[in-house]
Amino acid sequence: MSKTPPRDLGRFGADTRLVLAGRDPGAQHGFVNTPIYRGSTVLYPTYDDIKHRRGRYNYGTSGTPTMDALSEAWTEIAGAAGTVLTPSGLSALTIALMAVVSAGDHLLVTDSAYRPTRIFCDGVLSRYGVEVEYYDPLVGAGIAELMRDNTKAVLVEAPGSQTFEMQDVPAISDAMHARGGAVIMDNTWATPLLFPPHERGVDIAVEAGTKYLSGGSDLLIGLVSATERWYPAIKRTYEHFAPCAGPEDIFLGLRGLRTMGLRLREHGIRGLAMAEWLKARPEVARVLHPALPDDPGHAIWRRDFLGASGLFGVILNPVSEDGLAALLDGLELFGMGFSWGGFESLVIPFDPTLYRTATRWQAEGPALRFHIGLEDMEDLKADLAAGFERMAAA
Ligand SMILES: Cc1ncc(COP(=O)(O)O)c(C=O)c1O
Repeated sequence: MSKTPPRDLGRFGADTRLVLAGRDPGAQHGFVNTPIYRGSTVLYPTYDDIKHRRGRYNYGTSGTPTMDALSEAWTEIAGAAGTVLTPSGLSALTIALMAVVSAGDHLLVTDSAYRPTRIFCDGVLSRYGVEVEYYDPLVGAGIAELMRDNTKAVLVEAPGSQTFEMQDVPAISDAMHARGGAVIMDNTWATPLLFPPHERGVDIAVEAGTKYLSGGSDLLIGLVSATERWYPAIKRTYEHFAPCAGPEDIFLGLRGLRTMGLRLREHGIRGLAMAEWLKARPEVARVLHPALPDDPGHAIWRRDFLGASGLFGVILNPVSEDGLAALLDGLELFGMGFSWGGFESLVIPFDPTLYRTATRWQAEGPALRFHIGLEDMEDLKADLAAGFERMAAA
């Protein structure tokens, strides 16, 4: 290979593109990776150059070679027209929403959205005069009936945060596009590797790179990719707020990108195996995982997705608070904490009745969300089996 990778990466498979995109050793003295550029001020050589803002870089907020490396790589992987980077997944969601809706607009948001997205919609967008309406994630093409003259956008998330309902994104997108509005998607669960958002009708796709791009639970970053039509609005809004991701975090994101395909496949295999194991346990009433053949969202998942990641939910049979605490408190390998997508296994309890408004959450017992990491599966199963024994004894 010459020091400069081929330019037209579209002819390669996804893993090859992950390795090649967003780096040019030929321009970095042969070093494999793009270095960390830190900086605010960019110097201009002449009066004429500064007067006309000549040159690709003119200030730290509007781009550095490190930022460009990740945003160009993501644009390639997501099949987008452009990508902006932000300091967290949540800030990526808020930039996407602020770029599209204005006072007087009606915004449809899935009832299964990541909870802080809802809090932003209710707390900030409503305050600025946007009418926010939550809809049943299973609505499909029926979303057309919820649209009004002032409907500007719909925010989808599939599978849903915590509850894992699948959504018919192409049908929702057709209905929205018939009215000229935008489809915004939180695509964090699948990443563009398992759900190519812009091929499926999504205009603006948000990724919390904090999860699978990082893979290490060691950074916070968000990515907003968009189509030709919507990228200028995203870029403009990004420039108004200037929510810059930190250079070290971007560098770690680039490092994570190279192995993201490999890690996702492994998380997917382990997640499904653990979902099947849990499904066979007498303590478990239901497993929420779209790759399970009897999951209500399985047909949509098979049609639209290229794989599964390592995050899914479980509804337990009724159990006391003490029993649940006995299960969770003694776990040796599963950590309890928010976020996910790293190399380590995690579990959290969740209760959608606390915030859902458009649909009623009905469950046999308490709900748990699992992220399956890269530990040995037998060790993970033994950890949970011991937990179920403690639960029974409590
Ligand atoms: C589905 C989803 N979207 C967005 C986010 C937000 O990402 P961040 O933690 O980087 O703000 C999260 C975080 O848990 C998430 O689960």
